[in-house]
Amino acid sequence: RKAITAPSLLAMRTAGDKIAMLTAYDASFASLMDRCSVDVLLIGDSLGMVCAGYDSTLPVTVLDVAYHTASVARGNKLALVLADMPFGSYTTPVEAYNNAVTLMRAGAQMVKIEGGAWLAETVRFLVERGIPVCAHIGLTPQFVHTFGGFKVQGKTDAAAEQLKADGLALQAAGASMVVLEAIPAALGKDVTELLAIPTIGIGAGPDCSGQVLVMHDLLGVFPGHKARFVKNFMEGQASIDAAVTSYVTAVKDGSFPGPEHCF
Ligand code: KIV
Ligand code: NA
Repeated sequence: RKAITAPSLLAMRTAGDKIAMLTAYDASFASLMDRCSVDVLLIGDSLGMVCAGYDSTLPVTVLDVAYHTASVARGNKLALVLADMPFGSYTTPVEAYNNAVTLMRAGAQMVKIEGGAWLAETVRFLVERGIPVCAHIGLTPQFVHTFGGFKVQGKTDAAAEQLKADGLALQAAGASMVVLEAIPAALGKDVTELLAIPTIGIGAGPDCSGQVLVMHDLLGVFPGHKARFVKNFMEGQASIDAAVTSYVTAVKDGSFPGPEHCF
């Protein structure tokens, strides 16, 4: 296969080819996932929870993400390397740019930021300067204290309309992709149909342009509570390679997520 790029992800969305994304935090797993044809390796700020043992993503720093991004980039060959901008690292467009540069120098090819239309100016500022951006809306874990927990978003008509407006504003600002987390499956479908850029769902239903899971969840390693959208792909598999391959296959053929994983 060829190297995955921001334009090739858009081409996949246009062609209706599903995008398989997984989180990765080190070179060994990055190499394995790349060999199993995972399209995008996300160095999620979830590393604060699954690697460092914090109870939220808030303590994670830019240097933490940069360290793991460099590790993943060394193990990877063809997948696209996407790095999370952690809490407090994109307050202004200039601050976002300077921190994104640190992550791009570490090996990221795109950065992800959490929030809606209010981030449009920041997205445009980064994109104009050569930094592709993935937006993240719905259950944005950096807002855990605002939401009062890790709770499903977009349940009221007003919240659903706001989410659609956010998606459109972020796309207009130049975002390459948007992660939709923990929203009703019907809303995931609506946002995906509304946008031309790919949507990547995690608890957002089967109609998104692609799916993402935290690798520990896919492997059945649950330090905390198991969310509804999680599937343990180790079940019935004899190796981690086989589990990752079965995840990629299930995303590509649309069999994951099933109704039992949706809101
Ligand atoms: O940090 C993370 O792992 C994420 C994904 C769950 C989308 O942002
Ligand atoms: Na994240």
